[in-house]
Amino acid sequence: MQLKNDLILRAAKGEITERTPVWLMRQAGRILPEYRKIRAKLSGFKELVETPELAAEVTLQPVDLLDVDAAIIFSDILVVPEAMGLTYQMLEKKGPYFPKTLKTIQDLDQLHIIEGDELTYVYDAIKIVKAELNSRVPLIGFAGAPWTIFSYMVEGGGSKTFSEARKFLIQQPQLAHQVLELITKSTLNYLKRQVAAGADLVQIFDSWAGILSPSQYREFSLPYIEQIVRSLETVPVTVFAKGAYFAMKDMNNLSCQTIGLDWNMDIQKAKRLLADKTLQGNLDPAILYGDKNQIEKATDQMMKQFIGHPHIANLGHGVYPDTHPDQVKIFIEAVKKFNS
Ligand code: CP3
Repeated sequence: MQLKNDLILRAAKGEITERTPVWLMRQAGRILPEYRKIRAKLSGFKELVETPELAAEVTLQPVDLLDVDAAIIFSDILVVPEAMGLTYQMLEKKGPYFPKTLKTIQDLDQLHIIEGDELTYVYDAIKIVKAELNSRVPLIGFAGAPWTIFSYMVEGGGSKTFSEARKFLIQQPQLAHQVLELITKSTLNYLKRQVAAGADLVQIFDSWAGILSPSQYREFSLPYIEQIVRSLETVPVTVFAKGAYFAMKDMNNLSCQTIGLDWNMDIQKAKRLLADKTLQGNLDPAILYGDKNQIEKATDQMMKQFIGHPHIANLGHGVYPDTHPDQVKIFIEAVKKFNS
């Protein structure tokens, strides 16, 4: 069916659109009181993720309440390591925790490649969202990049230094490649199923890109991202690699059209080094703690720098959970009002 608003799809194919499309990473979630209300009735985050009707409902909330140009399916990147064999818990106010982690070759026995119906609840949620969206805006599917998923499997949660994951690369590089291969195959199967269920475009989050050295990033992350994007031929793909400013030149060679920028990345430099790509981003999410004038000014400054380059407006990372939805609306309005 023809989409009523396909701005983001056209921009993600390299078009300079008549108006710049806008959405926010982490738009579905704690910034909205309507989300917190649903969440409060449940046993936890995972119940929300694993109940398709509810996941669909919170996916649609930002479309209805914030008027963004795309929906992103409500889920988490951590459903992939879980479906592969390492379950996680989402601890209140602490974040993810994996009781079992990956340390030695024996631990590989716990893992399998996602090939079947392990993540049917996500595909079901996508189908419900597509029906309810009724072609209003496109739906974004997503997954973590293999390196970022590997980091969680090894660390067992968040970390300040990610030294366990980086130790693994130094001490057991061959084993790391083996695991990354398993994650890559799983992620590709998972994303293909998301697309079959109705995802109109796909984003890959490499949240921990920035902790690797340039040469490690070239060895342990980029080739696996490339394997995935090369095989997703039917939908536009965005790669968001937080902190990977050192890899812009390499990222211009990825077989995807769109690259997400974080707020530390220099837009002029990105336009030069990623000349062939659509760019997504990159307002500092902290700007949304400012007043109306500050938000409008910063948004205009950001938008001006992207003039003449295919662009999807977004923040430079996920919106912080304590951001007031009115501040988010000011940002969205400022993007929509912007006239180049
Ligand atoms: O709106 C959307 O963007 C869709 C939903 C979404 C969530 N997580 C929901 C969520 C998406 C795209 C993600 C991706 C994700 N998850 C990433 C990559 C993006 C990034 O921020 O770098 C990462 C690293 C994770 C792992 C994760 N999930 C962490 C570290 C945490 C705890 C910290 C936090 O933000 O609370 C989560 C939990 C999580 N994922 C919540 C939501 C709404 C909060 C849980 C809750 O409501 O109790």
